[in-house]
Order: sequence, then C-alpha cells, then structure tokens
Amino acid sequence: MLTPVPPPPAPAASKPRILTGDTPTSTGLHLGHYVGSLENRLALQDSYDCYFLIANVHAFTTLAEKPDDIRANTIGIVKDWLAVGLDPDRSTFVLQSEIPAIAELTFLFAMLLPFNKVMRNPTLKTEIESKGLGDHYSFGFPMYAVGQCADILAFRPELVPVGEDQEAHIEMCRDVALKFNQVYAGVGNRVVPEEHVKAGGVFPIPRAKIGRIARLPGLDGVNKMSKSLNNAIFLYDDEKAVQKKINKVTVLPDPATGMVSQDHVLLKLCDAFLPKERAEAIRAEYASGKDVMHGHVKAELGAAINTLLAPMRERRAKLDGEQGDAIVQDVIRRGVCRANAVAEETLYAAKKAMKLDFGKRTVG
Ligand code: TRP
Repeated sequence: MLTPVPPPPAPAASKPRILTGDTPTSTGLHLGHYVGSLENRLALQDSYDCYFLIANVHAFTTLAEKPDDIRANTIGIVKDWLAVGLDPDRSTFVLQSEIPAIAELTFLFAMLLPFNKVMRNPTLKTEIESKGLGDHYSFGFPMYAVGQCADILAFRPELVPVGEDQEAHIEMCRDVALKFNQVYAGVGNRVVPEEHVKAGGVFPIPRAKIGRIARLPGLDGVNKMSKSLNNAIFLYDDEKAVQKKINKVTVLPDPATGMVSQDHVLLKLCDAFLPKERAEAIRAEYASGKDVMHGHVKAELGAAINTLLAPMRERRAKLDGEQGDAIVQDVIRRGVCRANAVAEETLYAAKKAMKLDFGKRTVG
C-alpha cells in the first residue's frame, strides 16, 4: 500500500517563480538534456518557487493519432524528473491538460499576436523541417507557440530556464505579456519590462535562462547529442555501457596541426563532467603536444559520469517497479491542485483587466 502523502506546504510567497517544461513526444533522457536544462532546474529548486510543466496537450500537435504513446511518455517524464532529483515536495509538477486556465489564456493571447509573426517564428520553422512536417501540419501545430505563452504566463514567473532552441518562444511570450499589460492594464509604452508589474501590469515580463552548456556534442564528435542520431549517453545506461561508449570515441590528431583539437568532443565532455581544474589540466596536456594516454582520460571521464548517474539509475529502477505508476499518479494529482490555485488566480486577474470578470469559479 502507498502511504498517503500530506500536501506540501504552500511555497513561500517571497520566492521568485520559475516555470519550464517538456513535451512528452519521446522518451530517453540523455546527458545533453542534463547539462542543457535538468541540471539548471535542480539548482534552482531551493531558491525559486518552481513549476515544471508536462506539455501533454502540445504533444498532440504532432502526434494526434498516438494517444497511447503520449500517455506513456507523460508518465515516463514524471518518472524521469523524479529520478533526476526534481522534488515534488519543493516544486510543483504541472500536467498541462488538467489546467483549464492555460487553454483559456491561449485563446485570449492569440488575439494579441499577429498571425504572420507566429508563422515566422524560427523555432516552429526549424521544427517543421526537422520533423518533416512539410505543409501538412495541423492548425494546432503553430498554435502551440501561443499555448506556450499561456503555459508560462499562467504562472507569472520571472525566469524560464530553457534550451537555446526555445529562445524564440520566450521572446514571443514577452511580446504577449508586454502587449497585454499595455492594452488591458494601462501600462505605458515607455515603461521598461522590469517595471511592468509596478506600473499595474498583470504579467511580469519573463526572461529566458539558458543552461550551462547550450549544445553538448554527441559521441560522433560532429552533431549535437541526440537520441535519433545514435550518439548519446542515456541517463539510464548502465555503468558498462557508459564506459564502452566513451571508449569508442576516436581521438585522432588534427592533420593540419598534428595535435588533438581543443574542440575535440572528449575535451568538451571533460569540461562538462570533470571538475574545472581537471578539465583544464587535461586540455593543457593535449595542447602541449605530449603523447596523452587517451585511455586514462576516458576512464576518468567514464567514472565521473557514472558517479553522477548512479543515484538516478537507482531511483529510476524503483519507479519502474510495481508502485511506480501509483507514485506518479499521486505526484500529478498534488501538482494539479497546487497549479490550478495559481493559474486560476492569474486567469481571473487577466479577465478582470479585459472586463470579462463575471464572477469567480472554483476548479477542483
Ligand atoms: N516547447 C517546449 C519544448 O519542446 C516545452 C514547453 C511547453 C515549455 N511549454 C513550455 C518550455 C513552457 C518552457 C516553458 O521543449
């Protein structure tokens, strides 16, 4: 039996908020996800009131005919977050489909964005190409960019920790918030973004926070680390698999200089996963032109990565056990409750500013 968990204490009002999220379109977190965003989230959990959103409605914008996959990936993401160390007692996990205020704000915000501007959004364009959507994507697909503005603004965060690829969306979200405050809350055109709330705006103007390493190279040394390119170390690869993958990285001198390039993937991985001084010392050795024992470097790197991953593997294995799905259900239920309290408050403030307030409602 699962012991009932008491609801977490209400987050301290004094902490500034952050919101970020993932779309459950696939499974398989790897080290690129870790240094690009998860690590950032872990570090922010103490000093911020954190909201982590699972964008399961957005998953339907490209996978409308695969509801089973979306459900499985949704549960998988919650397990991944718990395994990595995101803590539902300190942070709020938000399941998008259970937050009606997000859907309502999406519609209202859609009127503040020029259609052509949405269609020119570079993140959408890249996705249309990389996912091979051609010209047959659904109406809902570009809508998700507007939806993402609502995901964020429903929680009125200061910061949005995301990967580089999401910057265009955060820019659009800032545009919507500025426009809303100016049109409906009487904030003057010359008020700087940081002063909007003080000037009576409903929404703070959020900023993106990009991860420590925006682009971790994959083991092929050419492309970004990615599941589909088969060049990734996954967070749940076992110890042997991790070391084996690292051992396979080829380290050849650059024909032009006769030395191993300082841009080599092995050195970039050392930067990412070894203490700074060690990574610098290894770089210096390679730069000196000496014959470096690649095997030793690879063993040190593999050990460091395995130390980082060990507790995650352990927690993940527990969640894959019998009780796992019930734990996930409970985390979702508690998160939805907390998230709706905040999002409903935001929606009501927005409706009031738009002269759409005809009485408060309760969302249970
Ligand atoms: N679009 C984001 C991605 O694919 C996921 C996402 C949805 C998100 N809503 C968000 C990220 C709000 C940050 C804030 O990675």
